Amino acid sequence: MFQAQTYQQRRHDLAALISSGLIFLPSNREASMNCTDNTYPFRQDSNFRYFAGHNIPDLALTIDGATGESRLWGDDINLDHVVWMGEQPSVAELAKNIGAKRGGTQAELSTLLKKHSGDVRFLPPYRAERETFIKEHLGAAAGADEGLIRAVIALRSVKSAEELEQMDIAVKTSMKMHAAAAAHAAPGQLEAEVAGLLEGIAISGNGRLSYPAIVTRNGHVLHNHYHGNILKKGDLLLIDAGAEATSGYAGDITRTFAVGADMTAKQQDVYDIVQKALTDCTAALRPGITYQSIHLDAGRIIASGLKDLGLMKGNVDEAVAAGAHALFMPHGLGHMIGLDVHDMEDLGEDLVGYDDKMKRSAQFGTKNLRLGKELQAGYALTVEPGIYFIPALIDRWAADGTCSDFINFSALEGYRDFGGIRLEDDVVVTNTGHRVLG
Ligand code: GLY
Ligand code: MN
Ligand code: MN
Repeated sequence: MFQAQTYQQRRHDLAALISSGLIFLPSNREASMNCTDNTYPFRQDSNFRYFAGHNIPDLALTIDGATGESRLWGDDINLDHVVWMGEQPSVAELAKNIGAKRGGTQAELSTLLKKHSGDVRFLPPYRAERETFIKEHLGAAAGADEGLIRAVIALRSVKSAEELEQMDIAVKTSMKMHAAAAAHAAPGQLEAEVAGLLEGIAISGNGRLSYPAIVTRNGHVLHNHYHGNILKKGDLLLIDAGAEATSGYAGDITRTFAVGADMTAKQQDVYDIVQKALTDCTAALRPGITYQSIHLDAGRIIASGLKDLGLMKGNVDEAVAAGAHALFMPHGLGHMIGLDVHDMEDLGEDLVGYDDKMKRSAQFGTKNLRLGKELQAGYALTVEPGIYFIPALIDRWAADGTCSDFINFSALEGYRDFGGIRLEDDVVVTNTGHRVLG
């Protein structure tokens, strides 16, 4: 946790942006896995953690929008609980640690919320139990407050020096995971052996994975969480895995390598294009440039490289304008990262990644870009270009004649079992340019 002053300042800044009403920020609760007492590993709500610090379930923070007065609510544990959980700090102590006052019990919070229901501002719920709680206390028609959403996004988007220190820790642990995987992976192993090694390192760092790891010889399946294949010599192994530090901040790194072998010339040629996209797109990061323009830069680098390999054809700018590169990279170049791997996605992807000046594209591929707007110093984001050969997508485009002026469909026949290559780094935008985290 940071010092109390950090949380006080954040709440002060939030109240200054909101200025009225009662801001209600509940913590997460334990979530049952297969029976009540057997729970999923606890994951705190990132908004609660940002403003209240504690990584403890069953608390809630309220902030008076007019005065900024903050109160922490929750029940102190009784002797029965002490037997099972050991001594725990009182809610009054927890409140003191973050420079807030003790509010009262959960029952008292319920009474307060019902009494002020028309005045309570809250963020979009993403767990059913929280949605139910809100409906019960604030009425079935109560909706998340867009002003509050925008204010939280404005504050959380710009990372402070102490947050970046935590992100460096998360990325360094993520790098250790990847180095160990590269050293360990060998023909004959299950993908799961590599996945287990990675996760163990994240846990050894007193954290966890920041999202379910992708460890696959089928890298062209973008969110592939199956780890049951046996690795063969020369397979391209795509690993997209990151650690969450003890503080909750995320790393998100992708590397691709050939198992137990040097890459073939064919693999290396595609790898070099992806690496150029990573290097050049990272070099272009600076305040004032839009991330959508950098995403399209990646598209041009990929189209140009694939044209050199004979897989694309025609004018590169026209190919990217037509969206032809998206046959090979159907996802976006990256997203914000922070306390969430896809930072603040619970608050709405468009509100986080777009604004009045930059609207989301409707085009296949670019429509999946999570962050398109102009960059500011302090934004932390991922740069993750890739090239994939997805047989089903190739077949559909070939049958429909999609972008046939720019794609050499016959040349793609020799790539149907290639898989995919992605490389991903985490970067912070600085006043003058950028710094690669970790
Ligand atoms: N691991 C998902 C992503 O890179 O966004
Ligand atoms: Mn990733
Ligand atoms: Mn990512």
